[in-house]
Amino acid sequence: MPCALKILATARALPPRVVTNAELETLVDTTDQWIAERTGIRERRIAAPEVATSDLAAEALLKACDAAGIEPAALDAIIVGTSTPDTLFPSTACWLQHKLGLRGPAAFDVSAGCSGFLYGLEIAGGLMHGGAKHIAIIGAEVMSRVVNWQDRGTCVLFGDGAGAAILGPGDGRSGVLGSAWGADGNLAKVLCQPAGGTRLPASIETVAAMAHTVHMEGNTVFKHAVTAMSEAAVQAMARAGIRPDQVDLLIPHQANTRIMEAARARTGVPADRLFSIVERHGNMSAATIPVALDEAREQGRIKDGDIIVMTAFGTGFTWAASVLRW
Ligand code: UT7
Repeated sequence: MPCALKILATARALPPRVVTNAELETLVDTTDQWIAERTGIRERRIAAPEVATSDLAAEALLKACDAAGIEPAALDAIIVGTSTPDTLFPSTACWLQHKLGLRGPAAFDVSAGCSGFLYGLEIAGGLMHGGAKHIAIIGAEVMSRVVNWQDRGTCVLFGDGAGAAILGPGDGRSGVLGSAWGADGNLAKVLCQPAGGTRLPASIETVAAMAHTVHMEGNTVFKHAVTAMSEAAVQAMARAGIRPDQVDLLIPHQANTRIMEAARARTGVPADRLFSIVERHGNMSAATIPVALDEAREQGRIKDGDIIVMTAFGTGFTWAASVLRW
């Protein structure tokens, strides 16, 4: 079966400021050793106060369009996966257009947490079947803006960044071979930003209670992430007709080294195929997979014809996996 879409180019945008575990030791009761052993994270990028999610998204989009040789205005759609939008409305995708003075391409956000980029890929596949030719998917987050910097259980985990991919029609050889996605909203409260929407609008009380920051039951997220990411990857590989030993690179959502390794083991993909950037970036939510994809390409870890498996898990809970032939 010919692939509906392929990735023409990727790019990333990262804030220049690096925050090490040692710097976090001065903020909360933690140690470099605890963070590194429990999560694999050593440093992360943190955006300057004036930088919003659409700023990083716009930079990544321009670089990716340049690499693909496509004018942003010629895109059929711009999809931004994010949990940290500039505003509740309009979408970050529309703020991105505002920043670039762009008019024309359909623009919207996908709210699927860390699965946002792969949800975008799934949606783009449908749009391609409907006749779209070129679509940009961007995973972009400024997680540092919604983190409680007094909570050592969460503030050490996250980072800021954006990754973009430009999609074009499949050429019958390379592209998406198979995918899987799903959600379980019954677990919505386990990982959420409680206040700021219609359930709990912003008030003096919600601000005092730090209810606009990330609330997470880490252990529960951990267990579900391993199960959902491995099951989605196995399902997508089965649909693509790909065996685990045929996978050249596995790019899981980059939340925690232990989660990634446990999920990899369950998929049967050999250990040397796992690609990780979490050491240098922390958990950038929807941005982790496109940034990892871009870094893997830059490092020469992806060659034409390679089989790439991407799998993600996030707030919702949501999950998604995709198998590509490059
Ligand atoms: O993208 C999806 C979103 N998030 C994730 O995927 C994260 C999923 N969860 C995790 O990665 C892990 O659950 C964490 C890294 C968040 C926590 O690791 P854990 O092995 O599950 O540790 P824990 O929560 O069971 O905490 C163990 C201990 C606790 O102390 P006590 O109660 O045993 O005395 C915590 O208070 O570690 C303590 N602790 C810390 N200690 C030093 C929690 N955070 C820290 C910290 N530094 N930063």
